[in-house]
Amino acid sequence: MQPVNPRADRYDAVTIAFHWATAVLVVAQWIGAQVIDLFPAGSPRVDARSVHITGGLLLAVLLLMRLAWRATRGRRLPLPDTGALNLLAKGTHWGLYALLVMMVLVGMFLVWVRGDSLFNLVSIPAYDPGNRVLTHQVQELHGTIGWMILALAGLHAAAALIHRYVWRDAVLGRMLPGSWARRPTPVLSAAGAQSQPASLATGAASQAGRTPQRQP
Ligand code: HEM
Ligand code: HEM
Repeated sequence: MQPVNPRADRYDAVTIAFHWATAVLVVAQWIGAQVIDLFPAGSPRVDARSVHITGGLLLAVLLLMRLAWRATRGRRLPLPDTGALNLLAKGTHWGLYALLVMMVLVGMFLVWVRGDSLFNLVSIPAYDPGNRVLTHQVQELHGTIGWMILALAGLHAAAALIHRYVWRDAVLGRMLPGSWARRPTPVLSAAGAQSQPASLATGAASQAGRTPQRQP
């Protein structure tokens, strides 16, 4: 496994691409699941569900590739926080990975339990036809994990935005594509701008090629 690189100031392009593709796909999956039942029963609803299942399989492949990349050639950076915040960040990241893996496994199990058809082309026979209770329970579990992912990802995104707009450091920039990472942090208030030394501002820091630490 590649060691943590304390000197690099950004994640590599592949890691960044995996991160944002996963984030977009998770949100699309969640929205997609909410609209399946709005489609008329029959082929339109089968197609809508098939899109959700196909997106789920794509997410499974993406997740496997992402974890393999992280474990081999992907750049890993030391977390910027210390103490409790460091533990919280680590717990959030591994919690998100764990929930995503569970989501994919429970989703696949759900397809198998209820029996499904992919675009009316491929049919997946039900493991226990007519067992509505089991189907309902697995579906509930799938929906609950979905909410947990959204909640944790929301906190995680809020933390990234606090780093950028409140603490004004370069943490978010580490996970942004080059042109976005180099944008200076917008000044939210005159007071906020004056209270920070210029070297801590995201733009200045990334141009200088380092990740500034917050002052204690
Ligand atoms: C992060 C990825 C995913 C999210 C956010 C997500 C979200 C959801 C949600 C919120 C529901 C509705 C649950 C309920 O009615 O209580 C659902 C249903 C479903 N999901 Fe997923 N899902 C994901 C991945 C998957 C995967 C990987 C599969 C299978 C390969 C899958 C297959 C299904 C199926 C078959 C249903 C039932 C649809 C229906 O009742 O018509 N999902 N999903
Ligand atoms: C469903 C949505 C998301 C998921 C599942 C997700 C997942 C993750 C995971 C697992 C990591 C750890 C990477 C590693 O070390 O292997 C990470 C890092 C990161 N994410 Fe997200 N993320 C999501 C959305 C977001 C959003 C919306 C933002 C920004 C607003 C964001 C900003 C970041 C940043 C800046 C890092 C690097 C943190 C650091 O180096 O300390 N993420 N994300």
